[in-house]
Amino acid sequence: MKTRAIIGSDNIWLPYTQMQNHLPQLEVLRTKDCKIFLKDGRVLIDGISSWWSVAHGYNHPHLVKEITKQVKILPHIMMAGFAADQTYKLANRLCNFAKMDRVFFSDSGSTAVEVAMKMCWQFHINKGEKTRTKFISFKNSYHGDTTGAMSLADLNSGMHQKFANLLLQNFSLDLPQNTQDLIEFENFIVAHKSQLAGIFVEPMVQCAGGMVFGDAQILRQIFLIAKKHQILFVADECAVGFYRLGKKFGCDFAEISPDILTLGKALTGGFVGLAATLTTNEIFETFLSDSLDNALMHGPTFMGNPLACSAANASLDLFEKYDYAKKVAKIEKFLLRELNKCRSKKNVKGVRVIGAIGVVEIVGDFSKMLELRQKFIAAGVFLRPFANCVYVMPALNIKKSDLQKITDAINAIL
Ligand SMILES: Cc1ncc(COP(=O)(O)O)c(C=O)c1O
Repeated sequence: MKTRAIIGSDNIWLPYTQMQNHLPQLEVLRTKDCKIFLKDGRVLIDGISSWWSVAHGYNHPHLVKEITKQVKILPHIMMAGFAADQTYKLANRLCNFAKMDRVFFSDSGSTAVEVAMKMCWQFHINKGEKTRTKFISFKNSYHGDTTGAMSLADLNSGMHQKFANLLLQNFSLDLPQNTQDLIEFENFIVAHKSQLAGIFVEPMVQCAGGMVFGDAQILRQIFLIAKKHQILFVADECAVGFYRLGKKFGCDFAEISPDILTLGKALTGGFVGLAATLTTNEIFETFLSDSLDNALMHGPTFMGNPLACSAANASLDLFEKYDYAKKVAKIEKFLLRELNKCRSKKNVKGVRVIGAIGVVEIVGDFSKMLELRQKFIAAGVFLRPFANCVYVMPALNIKKSDLQKITDAINAIL
C-alpha cells in the first residue's frame, strides 16, 4: 500500500506512527539553544527538549568544542581490549556524581534497563538462588521499547499489549498511595519473595506513562520495604536524572540510594546516544569468580563510545560548574505561575509542576491531541501532547522569553 509521501525519503519508517496517513514531518535545517530552525524559514521553540534529552539546549558551545576535539582524535574504539580516556574518565566522574561504584555503558535507555534486568537476574543466580526471575514494576510505568523493558510496562495501559506473549511474566502493581497500600505492597513482596529478582521504579514521575507525579515519602517506603526483604531496588532515572526535577536525581527527594541506577537521555546533554547502568560494589562483587560463567555477558558494539563519552564529560562539566538546582527552581516557579492561568478553562482538569516538568491535564476529546500539536506548531512552539496531557519539559537553561512563548501558546490554544 502506498504511504503518504515523506519529504526527502520514501524509505524511512517513523517512530510510533501509522505510516499510512501520517502528517508530513517538519524539515529541520539546524538548531540553536532552544530553537529549531526549519527549512521553510519557520522557527520553533522546543518545549520538550528532543524527548527530554537536550538538557543544556541544542549545540551548546562547550559540548560542541569537546566533541569536535574528540572526533579528530578518537571517535570510536571497542571497549573489549581497549581503554579510551574519555570512557574511563566518564566512569569515574559519573560514579562520583551519582554516588555509585560501578558503571556499565550501553547505547540507549532501553538497553540500560535490559542490562539492569540482567544484573538483577544474575545477581541471584550467582548467589545460588535460581528461582528469582520476576520483577515488580508499577502501573503506568514505561522503561523502554526493547523486549525486557516492555515486560516492565503496564501492559493494560501501554502500547505493548500485543506483545504480551513475547514478554517475561512480571508483576505490574498499583503504585502505593498510602499506608494501607504500602502494607499490601509489603504483603505481596513477602508472598512472592522467592520469585523476585528486583523492583523497577521511575522515581517521582512516571513520564511516558502519563506524567504521573509520585510522592517522596511513598518512594522512600517502597525502597525501605525492598531493602528489608532484600529485593534489589532499581531506579530508572533515564527521564528524570540530571536535575530534571530540581535535584540531581529523583531518588534524592526520598534520600535513598538505589542498588541499580539507569541513566540515558540527558547523559550526553542530548548530543549522542549513550546510556549507563550503575550499581554498587555489593552487587558487582557477586559477579567475581574464577569462572566466566559468573561474569555479565553483555557488550553492545558502541558501549563506552569515546565520542559519546566526551559529550557526557562535557555535559558533566556544565552540571558541576553551574547551579542547575537554582535554574530548575526558577523554571518551576515560572511554570507554576504561568500554567496555573489555564486552570479555570473548561477543558482543563488540572495543572501540576515539579522541577522542569509542567503538565496541564485535559478533559474531553483526546483524539484531538494531534490537532493540538499542529496548533502549537502554528504558534511557533513544539510540544507533543499525549494521553490526556499537554506537558512542557524544556532544556534546563531555557531563556525566560522562550519559556514565556511556550506557556503563552498553551494558555492561548487551550
Ligand atoms: C524512564 C525511562 N526509561 C527508559 C526509557 C527508554 O529510553 P530510550 O528511548 O533511550 O531507549 C525512557 C524513554 O522515554 C524512559 O522515560
